[in-house]
Amino acid sequence: MATNSRSIRSLCWVSAVAALFCLGFIAGWFAKPTHPNYTNAVHHASDCSKSNMIKHFFSPLSRKFTRLPHLSGTEQNLIYAEQIQKEWQEFGLDSVEMVPYDVLLSYPNVSQPNYIAIVDAQGNEVFNTSLAEPIPAGYEDVANIVPPYSAYSAQGQPEEDLVYVNYGRTEDFSQLQRQMGINVTGKIVIVRYGKIFRGNKVKNAMLVGAKGLILFSDPADYSADGVKPYPEGWNLPGGGAQRGNVMNLNGAGDSLTPGYPAKGVCIYRFGGRENGWMDTNY
Ligand SMILES: *[C@@H]1O[C@H](CO)[C@@H](O)[C@H](O)[C@H]1NC(C)=O
Ligand SMILES: *[C@@H]1O[C@H](CO)[C@@H](O)[C@H](O)[C@H]1NC(C)=O
Ligand SMILES: *[C@@H]1O[C@H](CO)[C@@H](O)[C@H](O)[C@H]1NC(C)=O
Repeated sequence: MATNSRSIRSLCWVSAVAALFCLGFIAGWFAKPTHPNYTNAVHHASDCSKSNMIKHFFSPLSRKFTRLPHLSGTEQNLIYAEQIQKEWQEFGLDSVEMVPYDVLLSYPNVSQPNYIAIVDAQGNEVFNTSLAEPIPAGYEDVANIVPPYSAYSAQGQPEEDLVYVNYGRTEDFSQLQRQMGINVTGKIVIVRYGKIFRGNKVKNAMLVGAKGLILFSDPADYSADGVKPYPEGWNLPGGGAQRGNVMNLNGAGDSLTPGYPAKGVCIYRFGGRENGWMDTNY
């Protein structure tokens, strides 16, 4: 098992762009309803049902701003931010400013992506997980897609026996240890996504002294009945992996300044454990 995750401090122009940009468009939309591209949308939006809103207003915009990978802190993210700024200005907002925030971001090592290996008694890797998700048939190979990773996971290359711990909840660990007498201290635990935030699964694993954690998406939880996998439907395809952060901040934002705007006033170092926490796809 090998993991590598690099954490860098980076100047992040607009990391919450996705959540905010609709606001500007809505403001501009009403301010300037004759914008040629949106005349149709305005007409239909007189039926203010949620599905109509999404269909006529949000989907062309979300398509436009989700076409290319735009991880926070990357050049593409800045390009989108600048495009949004320009469009808001064209829509008639008086001023649109970009404000720099000093956020701690976590990126994978793209030249040496993470993978998980099953190692035999001689130490040979007899099975490796793939390094990237397969491109769906008929889709273009978009550059700069980050390999699957769990942001803010610690670096390391732990090697141990695996123990399956269901969803990795407190009750799952407790059932295993107290009722079934299985000791997970020093082991690598494998847990499925769902029920609780992935960061809490990591926290629970750390609390019992696990050496590493593998997260996977169980089709029982991530494949809705009667829906085909993407791109035919919206179910997670077999080769797809979830991405996200494993920082345990209860949603408090930047890890250097939890609960406060990331303006670089408070610095704290983390990590250093010899553990590896990561996501994988099969
Ligand atoms: C990626 O991993 C390789 C090999 O371990 C290392 O030489 C390189 O410095 C890493 N790159 C980054 C950006 O950390
Ligand atoms: C797994 O990857 C390692 C490192 O690239 C390689 O040495 C090994 O042969 C691979 N094992 C399999 C089963 O592909
Ligand atoms: C679990 O295993 C660890 C490491 O081998 C050991 O230190 C600990 O005492 C064990 N706990 C129990 C309850 O057996």
